[in-house]
Amino acid sequence: MKKVQDYYFKKAKQENYPARSIYKLEEAQLKHHFIKPGDKVLDLGCHPGSWSLYAAKIVGVGGAVVGVDLQKSNTAALSGAARIEFICLDIFDTDFSGLLSGKTPFQVVISDLAPKTTGIKFTDHLKSIELSRRALAIAALSLCRGGHFYCKVFQGEDFPDFVNEVRHYFSKTKIVKPKSSRVESREVFVLGLEFKGGE
Ligand SMILES: C[S@@+](CC[C@H](N)C(=O)[O-])C[C@H]1O[C@@H](n2cnc3c(N)ncnc32)[C@H](O)[C@@H]1O
Repeated sequence: MKKVQDYYFKKAKQENYPARSIYKLEEAQLKHHFIKPGDKVLDLGCHPGSWSLYAAKIVGVGGAVVGVDLQKSNTAALSGAARIEFICLDIFDTDFSGLLSGKTPFQVVISDLAPKTTGIKFTDHLKSIELSRRALAIAALSLCRGGHFYCKVFQGEDFPDFVNEVRHYFSKTKIVKPKSSRVESREVFVLGLEFKGGE
């Protein structure tokens, strides 16, 4: 197990990404191609910035990336990549929707939001589900029709309900467990493809 962790950690360092979590997005992207050149991408829980950097490279200068996190990110812009706008904010903040309204619609919403874990599986699961439901609500308000959603969730009792909620909004739904995600970790990713539109 440690071997896998070391491999992705070193790979991230070599490829100049601030976190090994980049490969949890890359694997899904290489298989499902849901981020395209020219897209506008909203990255929820973006710090320290690996997913935003990766998305910025794919969308290129014709696209845009908006990253949101409680913590401030300062990732340098890369040539040939989109500009990344980092917003330091709690996604539960009441100003959040208003702040995004000038930037919508997005073609893709990605969420790697994670709570501060307590080690109590049920508590961590419930906190993660709360974040994921908020990410889904934000996606439903800010995605264009046909857009895509990729979201981390810690599995547990409410996970099947959450997957059904994603199914309600998207034509296709997939559950992804990337190789770079530790086998013992309860995290998985839910991919909603082709947003059907709001209520
Ligand atoms: C696993 S990290 C994200 C790593 C990032 N995807 C990357 O590749 O660099 C999860 C992030 O979720 C953020 N987060 C948790 N709760 C949040 C909230 N309520 N509002 C905004 N960000 C939150 C944390 O601050 C943390 O930086």
